[in-house]
Amino acid sequence: MAILLEDRINELQQRLKKMKEEKNYFYLKSIDGASGSRVTIDGREMIMFASYNYLGLITHPKIKKAAIEAIEKYGTGAAGVRLLAGTTKVHEKLEAKIAEFKGAEDAVTYSSGYVTNLAAITTLCQRGDLVIIDKLDHASIIDGCLLSGATHKSFIHNDMQSLERILANSEKYVNKLIVVDAVYSMDGDVSNLPEISRLAKKYNAKVMVDEAHSIGVLGKTGHGIEEHFGLKGAVDIHMGTLSKTIPSIGGYLAGDKDLISYLKHNSRPFIFSASLPPVAAATAIACFEVIEDEPERIENLQRNVKHFKNGLNSMGYNTMNSTTSIVPILVGEEKETLELCKMVNDEGIFICPILFPAIPKGTNRLRAHVLATHTSEDIDKALDVFKRAGEKLGLI
Ligand SMILES: Cc1ncc(COP(=O)(O)O)c(C=O)c1O
Repeated sequence: MAILLEDRINELQQRLKKMKEEKNYFYLKSIDGASGSRVTIDGREMIMFASYNYLGLITHPKIKKAAIEAIEKYGTGAAGVRLLAGTTKVHEKLEAKIAEFKGAEDAVTYSSGYVTNLAAITTLCQRGDLVIIDKLDHASIIDGCLLSGATHKSFIHNDMQSLERILANSEKYVNKLIVVDAVYSMDGDVSNLPEISRLAKKYNAKVMVDEAHSIGVLGKTGHGIEEHFGLKGAVDIHMGTLSKTIPSIGGYLAGDKDLISYLKHNSRPFIFSASLPPVAAATAIACFEVIEDEPERIENLQRNVKHFKNGLNSMGYNTMNSTTSIVPILVGEEKETLELCKMVNDEGIFICPILFPAIPKGTNRLRAHVLATHTSEDIDKALDVFKRAGEKLGLI
């Protein structure tokens, strides 16, 4: 039953007031300066464990230089939608770079990762088609399904029998698209691409993978999930964001040339929404180049992930099935989760709580993002803080 808007607003206001009184409000904190591995918040230096800046590229001199040069050449915006007057040479160069990076024929970019998922699913799937998604897929994938008019069904998280049950009953649909996250954004585990690819071939479905949290993270050289599994060609539609490891803004789809052309001429966010500012495109190109030129950043990230996760696990914390730079610290009840968050924030660790309904009931957690630029001392300091706080709260 619908609830009056004023009542919903009032309910939220009361909840926020209570959280602020109890000093349990950890959202909308403003960072004074670039978001590196150390940040300044309210005049205090904190170690950042909540950002997506996995490889630490935000302040990279080569990338900043590329951005400044693009502003000098192109100004601040593109002043048009891509299909009409909003395409510049730098957009074309970015799409060529993404296609090369992903080993695809071509690519198309959009103004955010969220919109990219909407664009892909609403353009590729219509009434009479079936989109099959993992229960823990990102919200933008779910919203794309809702907007597309296609039927959508979800399988139990990373459960291949559950996926096959849906595929085995899918003959009546014209097109079938399986959409998964490469790395799940709340749990940090990796999608079972080998099995998904096998099942997709068996049941004549296409595979789309959202690589928001896997570019620069998965694979020896950071090229993502196909490299991680050594499975070239397993993904039909590569989706990614330009807002995480690539610290710019936007999203992309990469795949076969004709499919990309179809998206460029049919996807509503490409036709009816302004193109990426050229500076954002130039920044992203430089980021892809740096990932390829400086593989040691990926090695550092993978070493830091091991250090942090092994440390937490040896104290008795449950980090779920994470194997990536997203490390959930499972607590359970909301009250204890907020208490832990407050204690570690008070000690200079910037980390955010993830609460129901963003995740299933009873699985409230803190979500840590490990960065390539954390020093070994940063991680040791965080582990020490978590140890003392966890013992004090009886969580470990
Ligand atoms: C898995 C996943 N897909 C898509 C998005 C949306 O990307 P963007 O923030 O670039 O719009 C996010 C953002 O958090 C994400 O985690």
